[in-house]
Amino acid sequence: MKNFDAVKHVRGESKFVDDILVPEGTLWAHVAYSRIAHGHIKSIDCSSARSMAGVKAVLLAADIPGENQIGGIVADEPLLAEHSVHYRGQPFAIVIADSALAARYGAEAITAEITPLPVITDVREAFAKNELIIPPMQFELGDAASEWAHCDIVLKGTAETGGQEHLYLETQGAFAIPVEGGGVKIVSSTQSPTAVQRVTAKVLNIAMHLVEVDVPRLGGGFGGKEDQATQWAAMCALGAVKLGRPVKMILHRQDDMRMTGKRHPYVSDYTIGLKNDGTILAYDVVFYQNAGAAADLSPAVLQRTLFHCTNSYYIPHVKAVAYSCRTNLPPNTAFRGFGGPQGKFVIEAAIVAAAEALHVEPLLIQKKNLLKEGDEFPYGQVTERCQAHACWEALEEKSPIEAARKRASEFNALNEWTKKGYAVMPICFGISFTNTMMNQASALVHIYTDGSVGVSTGAVEMGQGVNMKILSIARTVFSIRPESIKLETTNTTRAANASPTAASTGADLNGMAAQLACGVLLDRLKRFAAERFDQPYVDLIDVRDEVVYNEEHDTGWTWQRLVAEANSARISLTCQHFYATPEIHFNRDTSKGHPFAYHVFGTALVEVTLDCLRGIYEIDAVNVVHDAGHSLHPAIDLSQVEGAVMQGIGWMTIEEVVYDKDGRLLTDALSTYKVPDMHFAPNVLSVDFLQHSENPLTPFNSKAIGEPPFMYGIGAYFALLSAVKAFRPGKQVPIVAPLTPERVLQALYEKCS
Ligand code: MTE
Ligand code: HPA
Ligand code: MOS
Repeated sequence: MKNFDAVKHVRGESKFVDDILVPEGTLWAHVAYSRIAHGHIKSIDCSSARSMAGVKAVLLAADIPGENQIGGIVADEPLLAEHSVHYRGQPFAIVIADSALAARYGAEAITAEITPLPVITDVREAFAKNELIIPPMQFELGDAASEWAHCDIVLKGTAETGGQEHLYLETQGAFAIPVEGGGVKIVSSTQSPTAVQRVTAKVLNIAMHLVEVDVPRLGGGFGGKEDQATQWAAMCALGAVKLGRPVKMILHRQDDMRMTGKRHPYVSDYTIGLKNDGTILAYDVVFYQNAGAAADLSPAVLQRTLFHCTNSYYIPHVKAVAYSCRTNLPPNTAFRGFGGPQGKFVIEAAIVAAAEALHVEPLLIQKKNLLKEGDEFPYGQVTERCQAHACWEALEEKSPIEAARKRASEFNALNEWTKKGYAVMPICFGISFTNTMMNQASALVHIYTDGSVGVSTGAVEMGQGVNMKILSIARTVFSIRPESIKLETTNTTRAANASPTAASTGADLNGMAAQLACGVLLDRLKRFAAERFDQPYVDLIDVRDEVVYNEEHDTGWTWQRLVAEANSARISLTCQHFYATPEIHFNRDTSKGHPFAYHVFGTALVEVTLDCLRGIYEIDAVNVVHDAGHSLHPAIDLSQVEGAVMQGIGWMTIEEVVYDKDGRLLTDALSTYKVPDMHFAPNVLSVDFLQHSENPLTPFNSKAIGEPPFMYGIGAYFALLSAVKAFRPGKQVPIVAPLTPERVLQALYEKCS
């Protein structure tokens, strides 16, 4: 089955927020934002904006009827800045006009007098000044402090990872229509319709039932619309309710890049202790997260860093501490992997450093310490259905590491100025929202009298194919043609109180709810048929390929006939079903529990070629064995792995977010922010799925796939590092990602301090 969305995308038929035909009277909104990263607002002058042609209104904090607050985890972020600004790009006014251009000119005409205050962009400086978003978090297993004495070597180091721009193709935007009774209907490009509904209701001081949020699809989210799509929707809703007219806002790419948060940069200090044979005994790590100016999702991201601080390895003694540090950057937010990649990068850096000290290859240490069934994670959960070794071994078979070693060493012996490098990157990623209460979903399934089916869930389609996966589930349960099933938009009136589509759980949670709802409907129909055909055993009624069977005999009834007859007999053809992941729990005080339904495993081998004169490089090959369980849709899962690998490599190599010391984003356009393109893609990107991986907690033994493969990209960093070391054996280079060509040159030619 092809993904039904693909054809519409290619034909340009898919509708995104900016494609909606707007009704007569629609107004456009544009945001005026701070050009200073930190300061007191003395005054805001809107007089010239208000008098400009086409401008209908300028809205400030004082115009908000409810709470001027959008913070989800911590109430520390106003919708519109009122007394002070905390980052460059912070919105303080909304201009509403009768055209997009008039709104934009209006916003540019607003001036704010802001008394500057000291700006902090550096995470260590923020930590030194005790600028913490939340109290420190700590995970502990065993007793690292007393284990160092038993180690043959103990190494200390620092590793840094940079930010990352989400660069969803569809920029942030929303469209709000006032409805009778003081309410509003919003079409939003959000991963979390319920968050938009909740925050808008709070901002407008109205009940949630007066706010309907509809999400047809997203042109990408990648975490950037889990929390940060909300404000634009709330602004449109504010304008719509104030002016009694529909209001639309679509951010320009540059404004989007300047105003929204990105992946959290981290600086981390580690100590690792090993035996001479490569066994890791103890690991101590301190993470400093650059949260930006407000909490946003940072505490949850920080916690996931701790969950994944040992990646795919068993380490008996671990102490991991994490600080979320407040700086004057836009609030950083969810991004594919949600803090996991930042945690994994550090343990990989520590292993590479240890390997150098022990004069062995990193992969020997990696393989020796790979998780096994029953191993305990620092958070108390025990490894079940562990596929770490199975993936590694399947990769060895698919793409022997020995051959990569030989390719590199033969090439490097012959080439003075060009070096090859390689690295293995195993992953282990926990699936479930780490906040247990969020692991719930619902589905609403209608069968219409002609036999066609409409499915609504809380899942948001953002290109990851969740709609197609849920369609496959419904189709499998009913045994009808895929064309008979339609996935409806995600709407808060049909799927209430939905968790965001995030944490890779979209298909797991909503798919389960849909499977249960379809199952109830099918059961109802079968019971009805059993009665009609005087069959005492319901189980002997079967629907296969739209034909109804009684004891394996064709009854002459089609699916359509069955549905129509059931409707005539006044049997409900609608079912709503709820699903909550069973058995997961986590104690936040002790940081112990069983937070994840299961783990996703995989291994990648990354090979690169480095031009040691220019610092530029090519990714030669990425070979992956990935554990997708029994894939719900192999073509979609393949594309998820490919896309995630590219995004991960981009984060590790050429994507560099740069702010100057005044908090100004220097990389605010695609001319200065480089993302991987077709030419940068690996010459070989080959993905195999692990065979025979069972996973009873999901629809048809599938596994979540959205985020885990992102972390294969970390292999690109260490493959490049090994090429650097082939040119400069033994040279100590700072472990700072992304490893841009510029940084490669510094690593190759700068003297160590
Ligand atoms: N794939 C596409 N094409 N576009 C996206 O925005 N987001 C990723 C991943 N894959 C994303 C994507 C992220 S961050 C997550 S959490 C998951 O998809 C969310 O969808 P799922 O839970 O249905 O996997
Ligand atoms: N992952 C992704 N998004 C989230 C999570 C998580 O664990 N918790 C809250 N939002
Ligand atoms: Mo994904 S970062 O959980 O939206």
